[in-house]
Amino acid sequence: MRILVHIDDAADWQAALQERLPQAEVFTSDQTVESIDYLAVWKPPAELLERHAEARGIINLGAGVDALLGNPGLPADTPIVKLRDAGMGELIADYCLYGLFHVQRDFDRYREQQDRAEWREHQVIDKRDWSVGVLGLGAIGRHVAERIAAAGFPVRGWSRSPKTLEGISCHHGEDGLYDLLGQVRTLITLLPNTPETYHLINAKTLATLPEGASLINPGRGTLIDESALLDALGEPNGQGRLRSALLDAFPEEPLPSDSPLWRHPRLLITPHMAGPTPLGAALDQVVETLEAWGAGREVPTIDRSAGY
Ligand code: GLV
Repeated sequence: MRILVHIDDAADWQAALQERLPQAEVFTSDQTVESIDYLAVWKPPAELLERHAEARGIINLGAGVDALLGNPGLPADTPIVKLRDAGMGELIADYCLYGLFHVQRDFDRYREQQDRAEWREHQVIDKRDWSVGVLGLGAIGRHVAERIAAAGFPVRGWSRSPKTLEGISCHHGEDGLYDLLGQVRTLITLLPNTPETYHLINAKTLATLPEGASLINPGRGTLIDESALLDALGEPNGQGRLRSALLDAFPEEPLPSDSPLWRHPRLLITPHMAGPTPLGAALDQVVETLEAWGAGREVPTIDRSAGY
């Protein structure tokens, strides 16, 4: 079996895969290779996909397949397998818990008070009264919802089709979405980037959140209408309906230096670092997939038309 890897740390992946699959030949995209059986890639150049149109399967070395599906070099019918959680859920849950405590324990307010040397304690709102919404209940969203519930917050989850999760109030469909939005103090967005989720967070949905709600987006930048977000935040020194937002993903990355998002004091911007792919857990999934393909077994592939 011949496998070609394309990702930032391709040499580490090559060494790790070679060790786990000693019979295979593993290459990186820096090498010129005649033909291969499978590709394991993260944001490959179109030219690489075109050059290796003979690949019998593609493994997306990340959870979101939006970049790959939008790649003009992607062959029409090659099966695609994506990473499912693979350790990212845990990292993203940590990120969300940080963001949640940032507002629930008023760290944002204390940071602002510090600029004025103002010593003023805010009354703590009990976690049990701080309802959190998680949009998207895929492998990562589910893990995040469960960790937040385990930390003591009531959690409401939303997905396109009905789901049942222990300890989480599950909503679905359009009505379910508005029902959830009206009841959460913090909203976390973990939906894939598809035509259906484009600007799901817009003037209307933001206006449905209770006054003073906050947002955490470790998902995709396309989920948010940025100008509606800025409107909901209001004047930098004033107070809007939306208290704050912690944003990790943007439609254009890196976020351009002239974006007004950088400068709003109630926005916390991170450079798409919420859930880097940890090699260990991801490697297990990649090896499992390659072994199954090698043995001619079925592997769950993504649904190209759904976009995830
Ligand atoms: C990262 O954004 C991923 O989709 O894995």
